Amino acid sequence: SEPKQRILGLSVRRFWIILIVLVVVVAGAIGGGVGGGLAARNASSSAPTRVTNTDTPTATTPSVVGGVSPAPTDGGCPGINNTVYTPLDASGKTIQIQSGGAIQWFRRYCDTNWPAGPGVRDIMKLYMPSLEDCITACAMYNAQLCERHRGGGIASGIYRAVSMVKATGEYCYLKNNTGKMDTLGKPELYSSAVLCMSDEYLIW
Ligand SMILES: *[C@@H]1O[C@H](CO)[C@@H](O)[C@H](O)[C@H]1NC(C)=O
Ligand SMILES: *[C@@H]1O[C@H](CO)[C@@H](O)[C@H](O)[C@H]1NC(C)=O
Repeated sequence: SEPKQRILGLSVRRFWIILIVLVVVVAGAIGGGVGGGLAARNASSSAPTRVTNTDTPTATTPSVVGGVSPAPTDGGCPGINNTVYTPLDASGKTIQIQSGGAIQWFRRYCDTNWPAGPGVRDIMKLYMPSLEDCITACAMYNAQLCERHRGGGIASGIYRAVSMVKATGEYCYLKNNTGKMDTLGKPELYSSAVLCMSDEYLIW
């Protein structure tokens, strides 16, 4: 008998059945893809796509934690009166007025306040937990200012003194100068410090 004709190892009948099934499946897939794509394009041209914002409003609003700051402290009056405090930066180094310049240190005074007035300006008012933190903020500011204006001769811009009000919700004041001492009848509320560094150490 004649040997059976085979295509790709399959009988002719089986080959055609498989081929037709494959064609139907592939045609269906292509038709679905094209149709779906057209439908999607029509939909996007006729109606704007709705963008769903998954952020909840609370996630974009910073939470506000209320509460009055506790009274700032100092290193311990009257013991620290007339003593020196040398502020350090975050790496534990003394804070020079400029790189290569004099180290800033401060003399602390209990029961002392220099209110703003003629010749004295409060350049900044900020909450600091202690007189010593206040002094450090002052020294860091001075160093930044002097470094930025190196050669510019702005010695008048530095903070020469700080005064601290030791009451709940009160502040540290950075001042361009000392002035007339006045504790406004409440000496126990005030501690202050003066920058001890003469101008001849400044490198301009
Ligand atoms: C702090 O020291 C200064 C200078 O020695 C002095 O005049 C002042 O009375 C002292 N104040 C206190 C509260 O001890
Ligand atoms: C501090 O500021 C006051 C007011 O602006 C000014 O009169 C005074 O000269 C300043 N003092 C220093 C030492 O810069």
